[in-house]
Amino acid sequence: MRVERIGFEGFRNLRAGEMIAQEGINVIYGDNAQGKTNLLEAIWLFTGSRSFRGARETSLVTAGQERARLELDFVAEGRQQNAALLIQKGRQAVLNGVKLRSGNQLAGHFRAIVFSPSHLTLVKDGPEERRRFLDGAIGQLWPKYTSLYQAYLRAVAQRNALLKDARFHTQLLDMLEVYDREIAHKGARLVDYRLRYLARLRPYAEEIYAGIAGGREEIGVAYDGLPDGSREEALMTALKLARKEDLASGATGVGPHRDDVALTVAGMDARQFASQGQQRSVVLALKLAEAAVLRDVAGEQPVALLDDVMSELDEKRQDYLLRHIRGWQVFLTGCDAAVVRRMNTGAVFRMEGGVLTKEG
Ligand SMILES: Nc1ncnc2c1ncn2[C@@H]1O[C@H](COP(=O)(O)OP(=O)(O)O)[C@@H](O)[C@H]1O
Ligand SMILES: [Mg+2]
Repeated sequence: MRVERIGFEGFRNLRAGEMIAQEGINVIYGDNAQGKTNLLEAIWLFTGSRSFRGARETSLVTAGQERARLELDFVAEGRQQNAALLIQKGRQAVLNGVKLRSGNQLAGHFRAIVFSPSHLTLVKDGPEERRRFLDGAIGQLWPKYTSLYQAYLRAVAQRNALLKDARFHTQLLDMLEVYDREIAHKGARLVDYRLRYLARLRPYAEEIYAGIAGGREEIGVAYDGLPDGSREEALMTALKLARKEDLASGATGVGPHRDDVALTVAGMDARQFASQGQQRSVVLALKLAEAAVLRDVAGEQPVALLDDVMSELDEKRQDYLLRHIRGWQVFLTGCDAAVVRRMNTGAVFRMEGGVLTKEG
């Protein structure tokens, strides 16, 4: 997977322009608030995912402008491809001249992983962030997963509506069974995907974490949901058991939409016990492991978008990271030009006030 060119117009603070990317490492450096992360965000949107900053479409468009237009020339599956994104209230996408139904449909065509300081929420926040990571990663790998998940969520929403109505119309209770069955069926398949994914991710996460942390302690990555065995039946039983509580709350309290990924460092909950540096290493290890799994399954190394990653790592960890990403195409942002010089490979760009300039 390789980006050849990204063009942008009306996107955040970026002045209309383009970046001709190189193979290997592309460094973008500059002071704070100049537009470096915005550029990575623009590239990221071509994965079909939403902004990694959780931004809505309207905040992606330059203040005072109507729409943003992004273009990407890239090489994937051994051929030259081209995609365009028009961002207005929603997103419209065109891939190789063909209009897609939505921006999400780009998923599986252009693949990337992104690490940014905002991803520390993956360790620090609640289960939702970890599910988002898992669902995003699996969706890029197997786009069918995303439609299955959406169908599952629709069934949950219907069950929730029924839970609320059934308080006043008890004859509706019989219908809950129908939704329980559907949720259990789809939910079990979702959990299968997630377990299969984690089984692939785990060995890489362990190896990479050991590399970053210098082998001092171990990372643990485990699915936190229903027990093994027949998952569909287990989920069916759990839904029945939760029914009383669900009727009271009007929401479905069990199922993959509530599951979690337990992250540990040296056997202890990373959220509570890991230091800031360890938490950062956990997230970085997960993101680099995500790239490894994408490479294994899709047969192509995804593009890596690494936002502000160097500044927080000491020299040994920086060296590990640089060795690890050798041969990948990487977009690496930072404030410090000195770090850039240490690498003496690839291209260097400077970002200033939304204007991107190539150096040397
Ligand atoms: N929709 C927008 N319109 C105009 N400017 C924006 C918009 N969204 C963000 N910005 C500006 O972009 C700048 C931040 O860019 P960012 O890429 O986060 O900087 P950094 O170089 O530190 O990574 C801020 O000055 C912010 O005000
Ligand atoms: Mg930034």
